Amino acid sequence: MNLILENKINATLKNIFNKLDLDDKFAFVKVSDRADLSDFQCNGALALAKINHKNPREVGMMIANELQKCEFCESISVDGPGFINIKLKNEVIAQNADKMAEDERLGCGLVENPHKVVLDYGGPNVAKTMHVGHLRSGVIGESVSRIERFIGNEVISDVHLGDWGTPMGMILAEIIRQDGNLDKVESYDIAQITEFYKQANIRCKEDETARENARIITAELQDGNTEYHKAWQHLRGESVKAIKANYEQLDVNFDLWWGESNAHKTCGEIVDIARKKGISEVDNGAEIIRLEEGNKPKPPVILIKSDGGYTYHTTDIATIKMRVDDLAAEEIVYFTDSRQTLHFEQVFEAAQKLGIAPDVKLKHIVFGTVNGADGKPFKTRDGGVMDLETLIEMSKDKVRQSLPKAGEVEGYGEAEIEKLTSQIAIAAIKFQDLRNCIASGYVFELEDFAKFEGKTGPYIQYAIARINSVLRKAEAGGLQCGAIILDTVEERTLALKLAQVHNVIMRAHTDKEPSIIAEYTHNLAQIFSTFYNTCPVMSAATPQLIASRLQLAKLTRDILKLMLYLLGIEAPEIMLKAENKGE
Ligand code: ARG
Repeated sequence: MNLILENKINATLKNIFNKLDLDDKFAFVKVSDRADLSDFQCNGALALAKINHKNPREVGMMIANELQKCEFCESISVDGPGFINIKLKNEVIAQNADKMAEDERLGCGLVENPHKVVLDYGGPNVAKTMHVGHLRSGVIGESVSRIERFIGNEVISDVHLGDWGTPMGMILAEIIRQDGNLDKVESYDIAQITEFYKQANIRCKEDETARENARIITAELQDGNTEYHKAWQHLRGESVKAIKANYEQLDVNFDLWWGESNAHKTCGEIVDIARKKGISEVDNGAEIIRLEEGNKPKPPVILIKSDGGYTYHTTDIATIKMRVDDLAAEEIVYFTDSRQTLHFEQVFEAAQKLGIAPDVKLKHIVFGTVNGADGKPFKTRDGGVMDLETLIEMSKDKVRQSLPKAGEVEGYGEAEIEKLTSQIAIAAIKFQDLRNCIASGYVFELEDFAKFEGKTGPYIQYAIARINSVLRKAEAGGLQCGAIILDTVEERTLALKLAQVHNVIMRAHTDKEPSIIAEYTHNLAQIFSTFYNTCPVMSAATPQLIASRLQLAKLTRDILKLMLYLLGIEAPEIMLKAENKGE
């Protein structure tokens, strides 16, 4: 079912362009910038006139004359230097919305050629407290994962734990230093393990011998030392438990809990391939792959350090090979902040030289940092790293201020209020993160991010709950949805906005940019609010109009819910407010 209005117009334009012998690569429209003039506009006449040395208005008129004959156009005009403005008939928009409401995918199509995508996000590290950077990667990755699955691609998400580098040797060294051996390791919980890591970090910064010791232990661990391996397994296990609990709260999910360590065996294969291909060389005791110096010189990839250990480069290159060979990945996408841009450029180039991922798309999506009001990376009040746990608690505290207390509303005891608090708090955190273009950083807004108004997650949740309440009342009164009639400007604007949903999702998919969905969701909620304030639903003039407005409300609710789902945010059926005790 093709419920995309733009496609309908584009197909007609294509025929017209062919008939007029114009290059049909310009035969497309976009949503109009001037809603007062038109619904869609085609700017093709300008480009064509330039190529053919003609007057753009004349070319525009030629196209407009043909468009005039189409049964779906209400009015066509050529404005300014040659913009073709197209206004659709109300019935066309209404029928389209009716069909969207009937369709289980709400008019959203699937990709033509689905493929398998491996998404690498989260990326927390063993024994290190998860900070807001890991939050961003998780939140963005989860949303992209849902978008990709929704449009029909096969997705495998992998957390890619940092579980195999020097920090592992540092912790083991620190435990041995304090305890004399590793006998007590298995009694340590995550708090103790994190503390050991903190102390190891301080020590290694100050003391070259400690650094050297940690390096040796890391190399031995990687080499298969059984005592170290057993202790390491405990550290990893405890960390994974803590990380899982954190991501569970955020509703960030992974198909695989692989890490750098899983790539160890394949690291050896990578070295073999490099040697066979003659692309590695020994340099100062390390084995490296030199990269093309093209227009942007890059430092070489280090496959094996002089102490015999593999590097972050090697595990990532090996992981690409595993994802291609074992998971049949056709595309691999990574989500980290910009500090790893060079790392991935090196890894991708090395993978290409090694020939381990032919025809596989490798993409690094870079996101900006989360900053505090001072413009510097977001910290706790006492200046420490803002960890996820603290952030979620802070958000919950804010939300609690806007909600009634347990027992104040019927049916809402301690457990129900807590669940709602958490749903709203997570929505607030995630929406604040996703409403910004991914590449730009943002200032974590401490005051307004959890409010029920403004560009916030709770605002959208509230909009949905408001429609739920209308639909419940309608149902109780025996009222049903029916064919959509577009009587007023507000109804028409709403129906046109709803019709954009497919293209919005496709753009978010192509650009791997959930903020496109967040922006649309917020606009749609606002447009609905204007409609709701000007067009009474239950007290509309005729039964047909009531049925139509109910249908518009229901379709809006379903699309808003789908959008929140794609952003990884839950939509509670009912929202409560401290002042008026809910809808
Ligand atoms: N563990 C890394 C970090 O905390 C992020 C991992 C990103 N993914 C990857 N395949 N390298 O910076």
